[in-house]
Amino acid sequence: MENRYFSFNNRQDAAGKLIFIEGEQDIPFAIARVYYICDVPGDVRRGFHAHKTLRQVLICAQGSCRILLDNGRERETVKLEGPTRGLLVDAGVWHEMYDFTPGAVLLVLASEHYDESDYIRDYDVFKAYRKENEK
Ligand code: TYD
Repeated sequence: MENRYFSFNNRQDAAGKLIFIEGEQDIPFAIARVYYICDVPGDVRRGFHAHKTLRQVLICAQGSCRILLDNGRERETVKLEGPTRGLLVDAGVWHEMYDFTPGAVLLVLASEHYDESDYIRDYDVFKAYRKENEK
């Protein structure tokens, strides 16, 4: 799987680190929505869905977690760590998030507003959707 990573600009000095991300410049889409996931117990797995059109960039702004990515043919696990690193989760990619360290914060930049009808939450439906779209 060809995962796409980003390394964001940051300014670091004795006063700390500042990271900045510009939509359509540092990532390949305009940012319509931002959300973040925190307080995830270490034994919990979440996600379990793909999106039809939504594109997202994931950043583990604090701590670390693992992301499982599945494009219908291949599966891969990525460890996400560090506030300057981003991972693109493109449309049509089944993903799961797990192994959150205590205090981890997963920041997500999304290309669209929230829309439940864009979700594919059933793995068999996802597999069929991918097959259909590869024709
Ligand atoms: P969901 O995307 O299923 O979270 P995860 O895959 O990490 O488990 O979202 C969980 C709930 O939150 C779901 O009921 C929809 C709601 N939600 C919103 O209302 N707006 C949002 O931007 C997001 C991401 C979720």
